[in-house]
Amino acid sequence: MRINRARLAESMEALGKIGETARGGLNRVALTDDDRRGRDLLVRWMKEAGLAVTVDQMGNLFGLRAGTETRPPVFMGSHADSVPSGGKYDGQLGVLCALETLRSLNDRQARTRHPVGMIVFTNEEGARFQPAMIASGVMAGKIPLEDAYNTRDRDGVRLVDELERIGYLGSEPCVPRPMRAYLELHIEQGPLLEEEGLPLGVVEGIVAIAWSRITLHGVQDHAGPTPMRLRHDALVAAAEIVTGVRGIARHIAGDMVATVGRLDLTPNIPNAIPGRVVLSVDFRDPQEANLDRALAMLDHVVRVAIRQEGVRAEVEHYWRVPRTPFDPEVVGVVEAAAASLGCGHRRIISGAGHDAQYMAAICPTGMIFVPSRGGRSHCEEEFTALDDIEHGANALLLACARLAGAESATRAP
Ligand code: GLV
Ligand code: MN
Ligand code: MN
Repeated sequence: MRINRARLAESMEALGKIGETARGGLNRVALTDDDRRGRDLLVRWMKEAGLAVTVDQMGNLFGLRAGTETRPPVFMGSHADSVPSGGKYDGQLGVLCALETLRSLNDRQARTRHPVGMIVFTNEEGARFQPAMIASGVMAGKIPLEDAYNTRDRDGVRLVDELERIGYLGSEPCVPRPMRAYLELHIEQGPLLEEEGLPLGVVEGIVAIAWSRITLHGVQDHAGPTPMRLRHDALVAAAEIVTGVRGIARHIAGDMVATVGRLDLTPNIPNAIPGRVVLSVDFRDPQEANLDRALAMLDHVVRVAIRQEGVRAEVEHYWRVPRTPFDPEVVGVVEAAAASLGCGHRRIISGAGHDAQYMAAICPTGMIFVPSRGGRSHCEEEFTALDDIEHGANALLLACARLAGAESATRAP
């Protein structure tokens, strides 16, 4: 049993046109009009594949193919939103490989004991509405639905209002449901598979992640007449914090990574001293205890920076996802699928967050990685060769068939 490479490539091409950037990347930020257009196309394809399509209270899309027995389904999935000026592979590749797997089961008229389905998760990126993976977080019971609904973007627009506006505020409860397993195919977003010349990564788990938001309140004033001695510049304090965050990662070392990715300035004009700055801090480490150390060090860095500049700070450590090991059985099934395809593979830990991280709290979960050229992601240069994608999609198909008890996969030789 194999996927249809040409059909998968065509679908990637067609979905990749919605929100395509001039440089061949993707700008399909969550709950925008382009997100709606992408969802509309996916829903059409899901219905054409004979799937029963439903939408839950967080706008997650489900498409289900019946099994021969009343058993919990095997789900595959990922997300269809992108970061701004992102690439065409992060998220949508996993969704399309899930769809291609279901189409391939249809081609073979394959019967599975468990139903098989796909999920398209809402706002995985956390680019517009924080935190990331918010919809799988609600599904797993880790984020209250009301909190998710009331999350606002930079313009103060609420997530629930945007869900409604684009027509994807569904009625199915967004709660854990019985699932045999969850499988997610994704690009690696790092360099290891390419460096080692391997087409497949068998993902063993995901690092722990912590996000903080720091709001600095200085004194907005004129850039000309205000002597240096009278300034309380929120951006100068922010600059100290940015450098301090890099220093924390250097100090803890090992696998710790730390990023300040967002900086919002007020009033953000050349001739005013910045009165207010909001910055984001993202820490990741395979070891939970290192995140505790990093957050404590961040508090110290902020205290020193604000004292020096005479500004005030609010620090919110608002999101934390624990280190997540995947289910040994599912990891083993993915590994066996890779081996049976005869393609090179290795076990790997994900440095990026994925909806699979929350799904692991609901059901046995695993992931498949395919290589990222140059290790690049969250940028327009993101690229994965079709040969690698084909291997990944076939591994997904075989693993899914095995977990769902497909007749061809379970029949004695
Ligand atoms: C999701 O892309 C994340 O790892 O932040
Ligand atoms: Mn992703
Ligand atoms: Mn991403």
